[in-house]
Amino acid sequence: MNHFLDIHKTDPVDLRAIIDNAKAMKDARAGQSKGTLDADLPLKDQMVALIFEKPSTRTRVSFDVGVRQMGGQTMVLSGKEMQLGHGETIADTARVLSRYVDLIMIRTFEEQTLLELAEYSDVPVINGLTDRTHPCQIMADILTFEEHRGPIKGKKVVWSGDGNNVFASFAHAAGQFGFDLIFTGPPQLDPEQEFIDLARSKGSNVEIVRDPLAAVEGADLVVTDTWVSMHDPQSARERRHNQLRPYQVNEQLMAHAKPDALFMHCLPAHRDEEATNAVMDGPNSVIFDEAENRLHAQKAVMRWCLGK
Ligand code: CP
Ligand code: NVA
Repeated sequence: MNHFLDIHKTDPVDLRAIIDNAKAMKDARAGQSKGTLDADLPLKDQMVALIFEKPSTRTRVSFDVGVRQMGGQTMVLSGKEMQLGHGETIADTARVLSRYVDLIMIRTFEEQTLLELAEYSDVPVINGLTDRTHPCQIMADILTFEEHRGPIKGKKVVWSGDGNNVFASFAHAAGQFGFDLIFTGPPQLDPEQEFIDLARSKGSNVEIVRDPLAAVEGADLVVTDTWVSMHDPQSARERRHNQLRPYQVNEQLMAHAKPDALFMHCLPAHRDEEATNAVMDGPNSVIFDEAENRLHAQKAVMRWCLGK
């Protein structure tokens, strides 16, 4: 069974096929209304559960629309409203849902919840973000980069900011797709060493560079994310802002990257905090292409999971 739990757990050949299939499906739909069904209806007769234990706009809507375009049906479930939020075990939830649906996507807090759901589920499970990783986002980001700049293999990606869940999936992708990854941020918010070691073990050049201006030299892509993630306590907000302010992505920072360096942000953004409006809305920003490509990338992920 093909779970899509993390990028490093998926074979690089399959990852490449997913990206290429996403692009082909996107191109095939060009110019059509969002509600038009895909001609081959690959998810016909398939029922998909979308479970959210955290807020979402992009993940929720893109998965829902993607399933429907492919001819399947969805149900969006709030973790709080399920018995899961009132003491039922994740194992029992997995066993029960497997009797009703063909595929489960979950956005949750603890990675362990995702792993247990997959362990006890008889149907494929997709990671729609945990406190630790966000693989669907980075599949969309790879598709976005390659649409604008060609193969990402061998390129230099620089992450400026918090070493968070989105960075972690970039590190997984660096190992699988073969690009270099520089982290620049305050030492208190470094990514887990495990993510760096894994990417390096697969031949990717991953480094931590404290000086943001030095870090972005020669970058093909500059990425950032919110300074306070959904799993971070609000009490840490001020401290994190103070630590991260020197790593804001602004025009001065972008001027040190390659002139055609792309800018990415998974969104939602806190404008003029982690990145300035001038960068977010500037000519090298592809933030809304990333958001659109969640749809196309995840459709290909779902087809891969279901063998369709
Ligand atoms: N980027 C992303 O996952 O957005 P949502 O939180 O809106 O799903
Ligand atoms: N790092 C952010 C990503 C949101 C899509 C968070 O986890 O809140």
